[in-house]
Amino acid sequence: MRVIQFEARPGILDLGWGHPRPELLPTAEWSVAQAEALRVFGWQALTYGYAAGPSPLTEWLAARHGGSHFVTAGASHALALLTSLLTKPGDTVLVDAPTYHLAFPILTDAGLVLESAPADEDGIDPSRISSKKAAFLYLVPTFANPTGRSLPLERRQALIEFADREGLIIIEDDTYRDLVYEGTAPPSLWEMAGGHNVIRIGSFAKTVAPGLRLGWISATPSLVERLTRLGYVHSGGGVNHTTAVTMAEFATSGAYDTHLTRLRDAYRTQRDALVSALRPHVEVESPAGGWFLWVPLPGDLLPAAERHGVSFVPGDRFYLPGEGGHDRIRLSFSLLPPAALTEAATRLIRLAPPRADR
Ligand SMILES: Cc1ncc(COP(=O)(O)O)c(C=O)c1O
Repeated sequence: MRVIQFEARPGILDLGWGHPRPELLPTAEWSVAQAEALRVFGWQALTYGYAAGPSPLTEWLAARHGGSHFVTAGASHALALLTSLLTKPGDTVLVDAPTYHLAFPILTDAGLVLESAPADEDGIDPSRISSKKAAFLYLVPTFANPTGRSLPLERRQALIEFADREGLIIIEDDTYRDLVYEGTAPPSLWEMAGGHNVIRIGSFAKTVAPGLRLGWISATPSLVERLTRLGYVHSGGGVNHTTAVTMAEFATSGAYDTHLTRLRDAYRTQRDALVSALRPHVEVESPAGGWFLWVPLPGDLLPAAERHGVSFVPGDRFYLPGEGGHDRIRLSFSLLPPAALTEAATRLIRLAPPRADR
Protein backbone atom coordinates (compact mmCIF):
# COMPACT_ATOMS: atom_id res chain seq x y z
CA MET A 1 0.00 0.00 0.00
CA ARG A 2 1.34 3.48 -0.90
CA VAL A 3 -0.43 6.36 0.78
CA ILE A 4 2.13 9.12 1.27
CA GLN A 5 4.94 10.78 -0.69
CA PHE A 6 7.64 10.44 1.98
CA GLU A 7 9.42 7.12 1.98
CA ALA A 8 11.29 6.29 5.19
CA ARG A 9 14.63 4.62 4.53
CA PRO A 10 15.59 2.34 7.41
CA GLY A 11 18.65 3.59 9.29
CA ILE A 12 18.66 7.03 7.62
CA LEU A 13 17.84 10.25 9.47
CA ASP A 14 16.53 12.23 6.53
CA LEU A 15 17.05 15.98 6.59
CA GLY A 16 16.25 16.17 2.88
CA TRP A 17 12.48 16.43 2.98
CA GLY A 18 10.68 19.71 3.62
CA HIS A 19 7.83 17.86 5.28
CA PRO A 20 6.12 18.55 8.61
CA ARG A 21 6.81 16.47 11.67
CA PRO A 22 3.92 13.95 11.76
CA GLU A 23 3.11 14.61 15.44
CA LEU A 24 2.57 18.28 14.61
CA LEU A 25 -0.19 17.65 12.08
CA PRO A 26 -3.49 18.78 13.66
CA THR A 27 -5.51 15.57 13.16
CA ALA A 28 -7.87 16.11 16.12
CA GLU A 29 -8.39 19.84 15.51
CA TRP A 30 -9.00 19.30 11.79
CA SER A 31 -11.61 16.70 12.55
CA VAL A 32 -13.46 19.20 14.77
CA ALA A 33 -13.32 21.83 12.01
CA GLN A 34 -14.57 19.31 9.46
CA ALA A 35 -17.58 18.34 11.58
CA GLU A 36 -18.36 22.01 12.24
CA ALA A 37 -18.04 22.96 8.55
CA LEU A 38 -20.50 20.22 7.65
CA ARG A 39 -22.87 21.37 10.39
CA VAL A 40 -22.69 25.03 9.34
CA PHE A 41 -22.61 24.69 5.54
CA GLY A 42 -24.51 21.38 5.19
CA TRP A 43 -24.77 20.22 1.57
CA GLN A 44 -23.09 23.46 0.42
CA ALA A 45 -19.84 22.10 1.82
CA LEU A 46 -20.03 19.18 -0.60
CA THR A 47 -21.21 20.66 -3.88
CA TYR A 48 -19.26 22.64 -6.51
CA GLY A 49 -17.74 25.72 -4.89
CA TYR A 50 -17.66 29.43 -5.71
CA ALA A 51 -15.00 30.03 -8.36
CA ALA A 52 -12.59 32.23 -6.35
CA GLY A 53 -12.97 30.05 -3.24
CA PRO A 54 -15.63 30.21 -0.51
CA SER A 55 -16.05 33.75 0.81
CA PRO A 56 -15.61 32.78 4.49
CA LEU A 57 -12.05 31.81 3.57
CA THR A 58 -11.27 34.60 1.08
CA GLU A 59 -12.68 37.16 3.54
CA TRP A 60 -10.47 35.76 6.32
CA LEU A 61 -7.48 35.98 3.97
CA ALA A 62 -8.42 39.57 3.06
CA ALA A 63 -8.73 40.56 6.72
CA ARG A 64 -5.30 39.09 7.41
CA HIS A 65 -3.41 40.15 4.31
CA GLY A 66 -5.58 42.78 2.60
CA GLY A 67 -6.56 42.63 -1.09
CA SER A 68 -8.30 40.01 -3.21
CA HIS A 69 -7.66 36.28 -3.20
CA PHE A 70 -8.14 33.18 -5.26
CA VAL A 71 -8.02 29.81 -3.49
CA THR A 72 -5.74 27.18 -5.05
CA ALA A 73 -4.63 23.60 -4.45
CA GLY A 74 -1.42 24.82 -2.76
CA ALA A 75 1.44 27.12 -3.72
CA SER A 76 2.67 24.77 -6.48
CA HIS A 77 -0.76 24.89 -8.10
CA ALA A 78 -0.82 28.68 -7.70
CA LEU A 79 2.46 28.92 -9.61
CA ALA A 80 1.22 26.54 -12.32
CA LEU A 81 -2.03 28.50 -12.74
CA LEU A 82 -0.23 31.84 -12.94
CA THR A 83 2.21 30.37 -15.42
CA SER A 84 -0.62 29.22 -17.63
CA LEU A 85 -2.28 32.63 -17.42
CA LEU A 86 0.75 34.91 -17.82
CA THR A 87 3.13 33.10 -20.17
CA LYS A 88 3.42 31.27 -23.45
CA PRO A 89 5.98 28.57 -24.33
CA GLY A 90 9.37 30.08 -25.13
CA ASP A 91 8.96 33.03 -22.76
CA THR A 92 11.80 33.77 -20.36
CA VAL A 93 11.23 33.91 -16.62
CA LEU A 94 13.72 35.11 -14.05
CA VAL A 95 14.30 33.05 -10.91
CA ASP A 96 16.19 33.81 -7.73
CA ALA A 97 19.51 31.96 -7.26
CA PRO A 98 19.37 29.83 -5.22
CA THR A 99 15.64 29.20 -5.06
CA TYR A 100 12.99 26.55 -4.45
CA HIS A 101 14.15 23.77 -6.77
CA LEU A 102 10.74 22.22 -7.38
CA ALA A 103 9.52 25.47 -8.92
CA PHE A 104 11.88 24.76 -11.86
CA PRO A 105 9.91 21.84 -13.34
CA ILE A 106 6.61 23.68 -12.82
CA LEU A 107 8.01 26.45 -15.03
CA THR A 108 9.77 24.28 -17.60
CA ASP A 109 6.67 22.04 -17.96
CA ALA A 110 5.07 25.15 -19.46
CA GLY A 111 7.91 25.51 -21.98
CA LEU A 112 9.48 28.50 -20.23
CA VAL A 113 13.17 29.40 -20.46
CA LEU A 114 14.66 29.96 -17.00
CA GLU A 115 17.28 32.58 -16.30
CA SER A 116 18.86 33.33 -12.92
CA ALA A 117 18.44 36.83 -11.60
CA PRO A 118 21.69 38.37 -10.29
CA ALA A 119 21.94 37.65 -6.58
CA ASP A 120 24.44 37.68 -3.73
CA GLU A 121 24.41 36.60 -0.08
CA ASP A 122 21.49 38.96 0.63
CA GLY A 123 19.37 37.64 -2.25
CA ILE A 124 18.33 39.23 -5.54
CA ASP A 125 20.20 42.40 -6.37
CA PRO A 126 17.77 44.55 -8.37
CA SER A 127 20.50 47.03 -9.36
CA ARG A 128 22.08 44.28 -11.50
CA ILE A 129 18.97 42.89 -13.24
CA SER A 130 19.19 43.64 -16.94
CA SER A 131 15.95 45.13 -18.14
CA LYS A 132 15.40 42.44 -20.78
CA LYS A 133 11.71 41.57 -20.83
CA ALA A 134 10.84 38.53 -18.73
CA ALA A 135 7.30 37.23 -18.32
CA PHE A 136 7.84 37.39 -14.56
CA LEU A 137 10.35 37.02 -11.75
CA TYR A 138 9.88 34.21 -9.20
CA LEU A 139 11.36 34.43 -5.71
CA VAL A 140 10.83 33.37 -2.10
CA PRO A 141 11.85 36.56 -0.28
CA THR A 142 10.83 35.58 3.26
CA PHE A 143 12.44 32.66 5.18
CA ALA A 144 13.50 31.30 1.82
CA ASN A 145 13.79 27.74 0.69
CA PRO A 146 16.68 26.80 0.69
CA THR A 147 18.59 29.53 2.55
CA GLY A 148 16.20 30.46 5.39
CA ARG A 149 17.12 34.08 4.69
CA SER A 150 14.88 37.06 4.03
CA LEU A 151 15.50 39.76 1.46
CA PRO A 152 16.55 42.96 3.31
CA LEU A 153 14.07 45.84 3.35
CA GLU A 154 16.16 48.11 1.08
CA ARG A 155 16.37 45.33 -1.52
CA ARG A 156 12.62 44.80 -1.28
CA GLN A 157 12.02 48.48 -1.91
CA ALA A 158 14.52 48.60 -4.78
CA LEU A 159 13.01 45.50 -6.36
CA ILE A 160 9.52 46.97 -6.25
CA GLU A 161 10.80 50.20 -7.81
CA PHE A 162 12.62 48.24 -10.51
CA ALA A 163 9.49 46.20 -11.27
CA ASP A 164 7.44 49.36 -11.47
CA ARG A 165 9.93 51.06 -13.80
CA GLU A 166 10.39 48.06 -16.09
CA GLY A 167 6.84 46.69 -15.96
CA LEU A 168 8.19 43.42 -14.53
CA ILE A 169 5.69 41.14 -12.79
CA ILE A 170 6.97 39.63 -9.55
CA ILE A 171 5.60 36.34 -8.24
CA GLU A 172 6.32 36.35 -4.52
CA ASP A 173 6.20 32.86 -3.00
CA ASP A 174 5.28 33.61 0.61
CA THR A 175 4.86 30.02 1.78
CA TYR A 176 6.86 30.38 5.02
CA ARG A 177 5.63 33.78 6.30
CA ASP A 178 3.65 32.42 9.25
CA LEU A 179 6.48 30.17 10.46
CA VAL A 180 8.36 32.96 12.23
CA TYR A 181 10.44 32.17 15.31
CA GLU A 182 12.00 35.55 16.14
CA GLY A 183 10.17 38.89 16.06
CA THR A 184 7.88 39.44 13.11
CA ALA A 185 8.24 38.55 9.45
CA PRO A 186 9.30 41.37 7.09
CA PRO A 187 6.49 43.00 5.10
CA SER A 188 5.61 41.13 1.93
CA LEU A 189 6.58 42.63 -1.43
CA TRP A 190 2.91 42.43 -2.29
CA GLU A 191 1.92 44.55 0.68
CA MET A 192 4.78 47.01 0.12
CA ALA A 193 3.83 47.45 -3.54
CA GLY A 194 0.12 47.78 -2.77
CA GLY A 195 -0.41 44.85 -5.13
CA HIS A 196 1.10 46.78 -8.06
CA ASN A 197 3.12 44.41 -10.30
CA VAL A 198 3.38 41.85 -7.46
CA ILE A 199 1.36 38.65 -7.16
CA ARG A 200 1.72 36.74 -3.94
CA ILE A 201 1.24 33.01 -3.48
CA GLY A 202 0.64 31.34 -0.14
CA SER A 203 0.00 27.89 1.24
CA PHE A 204 -1.52 26.06 4.17
CA ALA A 205 0.84 23.13 3.49
CA LYS A 206 3.44 24.11 6.07
CA THR A 207 1.18 25.75 8.64
CA VAL A 208 -1.71 23.26 8.66
CA ALA A 209 -1.08 20.19 6.48
CA PRO A 210 0.33 19.48 3.00
CA GLY A 211 -2.36 16.87 2.37
CA LEU A 212 -5.03 19.57 2.29
CA ARG A 213 -3.56 20.76 -1.02
CA LEU A 214 -4.74 24.25 -0.19
CA GLY A 215 -3.19 27.64 -0.82
CA TRP A 216 -4.04 30.96 -2.44
CA ILE A 217 -3.08 33.75 -4.79
CA SER A 218 -3.22 37.36 -3.55
CA ALA A 219 -3.73 39.59 -6.57
CA THR A 220 -5.65 42.52 -8.03
CA PRO A 221 -9.41 42.02 -8.41
CA SER A 222 -8.96 41.91 -12.20
CA LEU A 223 -6.38 39.09 -12.01
CA VAL A 224 -8.61 37.17 -9.58
CA GLU A 225 -11.43 37.62 -12.09
CA ARG A 226 -9.22 36.25 -14.90
CA LEU A 227 -8.35 33.23 -12.74
CA THR A 228 -12.03 32.52 -12.12
CA ARG A 229 -12.59 32.48 -15.88
CA LEU A 230 -9.99 29.76 -16.54
CA GLY A 231 -11.63 26.78 -18.25
CA TYR A 232 -10.39 24.52 -15.48
CA VAL A 233 -12.20 26.58 -12.85
CA HIS A 234 -15.31 27.13 -14.92
CA SER A 235 -15.61 23.39 -15.40
CA GLY A 236 -14.79 22.24 -11.85
CA GLY A 237 -15.79 25.17 -9.65
CA GLY A 238 -13.73 26.55 -6.77
CA VAL A 239 -10.59 24.53 -6.09
CA ASN A 240 -10.74 21.96 -3.26
CA HIS A 241 -14.02 23.42 -2.10
CA THR A 242 -14.80 21.04 0.77
CA THR A 243 -11.31 21.46 2.20
CA ALA A 244 -11.54 25.22 1.72
CA VAL A 245 -14.76 25.52 3.75
CA THR A 246 -13.18 23.37 6.46
CA MET A 247 -10.14 25.64 6.42
CA ALA A 248 -12.48 28.64 6.75
CA GLU A 249 -13.90 27.06 9.90
CA PHE A 250 -10.39 26.17 11.19
CA ALA A 251 -9.27 29.76 10.59
CA THR A 252 -12.27 31.73 11.85
CA SER A 253 -12.68 29.61 15.00
CA GLY A 254 -9.16 30.62 16.12
CA ALA A 255 -7.83 27.05 15.79
CA TYR A 256 -5.35 28.20 13.13
CA ASP A 257 -3.69 30.78 15.37
CA THR A 258 -3.61 28.40 18.34
CA HIS A 259 -2.00 25.79 16.11
CA LEU A 260 0.54 28.31 14.76
CA THR A 261 1.71 29.11 18.29
CA ARG A 262 2.31 25.43 18.91
CA LEU A 263 4.11 25.00 15.59
CA ARG A 264 6.36 28.01 16.14
CA ASP A 265 7.43 26.70 19.55
CA ALA A 266 8.10 23.22 18.21
CA TYR A 267 9.96 24.24 15.05
CA ARG A 268 12.00 26.83 16.96
CA THR A 269 13.12 24.06 19.33
CA GLN A 270 13.94 21.79 16.38
CA ARG A 271 15.90 24.57 14.66
CA ASP A 272 17.86 25.22 17.83
CA ALA A 273 18.67 21.53 18.32
CA LEU A 274 20.12 21.24 14.83
CA VAL A 275 21.93 24.58 14.87
CA SER A 276 23.53 23.99 18.24
CA ALA A 277 24.70 20.49 17.31
CA LEU A 278 26.31 21.82 14.10
CA ARG A 279 27.77 25.10 15.36
CA PRO A 280 30.92 23.84 17.06
CA HIS A 281 31.93 22.23 13.76
CA VAL A 282 30.54 24.33 10.95
CA GLU A 283 29.45 27.94 10.50
CA VAL A 284 25.71 28.02 10.29
CA GLU A 285 23.16 30.82 10.38
CA SER A 286 20.08 30.34 12.50
CA PRO A 287 17.13 31.44 10.33
CA ALA A 288 14.40 33.59 11.92
CA GLY A 289 11.73 31.50 10.22
CA GLY A 290 10.98 28.68 7.79
CA TRP A 291 12.29 25.13 7.81
CA PHE A 292 15.82 25.17 6.41
CA LEU A 293 19.52 25.59 7.20
CA TRP A 294 21.86 26.43 4.32
CA VAL A 295 25.09 24.89 5.47
CA PRO A 296 28.56 25.42 3.94
CA LEU A 297 29.44 21.77 3.32
CA PRO A 298 30.05 20.13 -0.07
CA GLY A 299 27.06 18.43 -1.70
CA ASP A 300 29.22 15.51 -2.83
CA LEU A 301 29.24 14.28 0.78
CA LEU A 302 25.79 12.80 0.10
CA PRO A 303 26.69 9.16 -0.76
CA ALA A 304 29.00 8.88 2.26
CA ALA A 305 26.44 10.61 4.46
CA GLU A 306 23.75 8.14 3.47
CA ARG A 307 26.09 5.23 4.21
CA HIS A 308 26.48 6.76 7.66
CA GLY A 309 22.75 7.17 8.22
CA VAL A 310 21.99 10.78 7.37
CA SER A 311 20.63 12.47 4.25
CA PHE A 312 20.17 16.02 2.88
CA VAL A 313 19.69 17.87 -0.40
CA PRO A 314 22.90 19.02 -2.17
CA GLY A 315 22.96 22.78 -2.75
CA ASP A 316 23.40 22.66 -6.53
CA ARG A 317 19.80 21.45 -6.93
CA PHE A 318 18.61 24.94 -6.00
CA TYR A 319 20.47 26.58 -8.89
CA LEU A 320 19.94 26.27 -12.62
CA PRO A 321 22.27 23.55 -13.97
CA GLY A 322 25.95 24.39 -13.58
CA GLU A 323 25.35 27.75 -11.87
CA GLY A 324 26.59 26.97 -8.37
CA GLY A 325 25.73 25.57 -4.97
CA HIS A 326 28.31 22.74 -4.88
CA ASP A 327 29.68 24.04 -1.59
CA ARG A 328 26.32 24.10 0.20
CA ILE A 329 23.79 21.64 1.48
CA ARG A 330 20.20 22.18 2.61
CA LEU A 331 19.18 20.64 5.90
CA SER A 332 15.53 20.61 6.87
CA PHE A 333 14.72 20.66 10.58
CA SER A 334 10.97 20.21 10.01
CA LEU A 335 10.53 16.44 9.93
CA LEU A 336 12.43 15.06 12.91
CA PRO A 337 12.21 15.67 16.66
CA PRO A 338 15.09 17.42 18.46
CA ALA A 339 16.96 14.31 19.63
CA ALA A 340 16.99 12.83 16.11
CA LEU A 341 18.21 16.16 14.70
CA THR A 342 21.10 16.18 17.18
CA GLU A 343 22.01 12.63 16.21
CA ALA A 344 21.75 13.51 12.49
CA ALA A 345 24.14 16.43 13.00
CA THR A 346 26.59 14.17 14.84
CA ARG A 347 26.59 11.69 11.94
CA LEU A 348 27.06 14.47 9.40
CA ILE A 349 29.83 16.25 11.22
CA ARG A 350 31.87 13.06 11.48
CA LEU A 351 32.13 13.16 7.67
CA ALA A 352 32.70 16.86 7.20
CA PRO A 353 36.16 17.91 6.04
CA PRO A 354 38.07 19.81 8.76
CA ARG A 355 37.30 23.56 8.69
CA ALA A 356 40.68 24.54 7.23
CA ASP A 357 40.04 22.40 4.11
CA ARG A 358 36.79 24.12 3.20
C1 LIG B 1 9.02 27.85 -1.43
C2 LIG B 1 8.00 26.79 -1.59
N1 LIG B 1 6.95 27.00 -2.41
C3 LIG B 1 6.02 26.06 -2.57
C4 LIG B 1 6.09 24.84 -1.92
C5 LIG B 1 5.02 23.82 -2.18
O1 LIG B 1 3.83 24.28 -1.61
P1 LIG B 1 2.48 23.48 -1.76
O2 LIG B 1 2.64 22.20 -0.99
O3 LIG B 1 1.47 24.40 -1.16
O4 LIG B 1 2.24 23.24 -3.20
C6 LIG B 1 7.14 24.58 -1.07
C7 LIG B 1 7.26 23.29 -0.41
O5 LIG B 1 8.33 22.81 -0.14
C8 LIG B 1 8.13 25.59 -0.91
O6 LIG B 1 9.17 25.39 -0.10
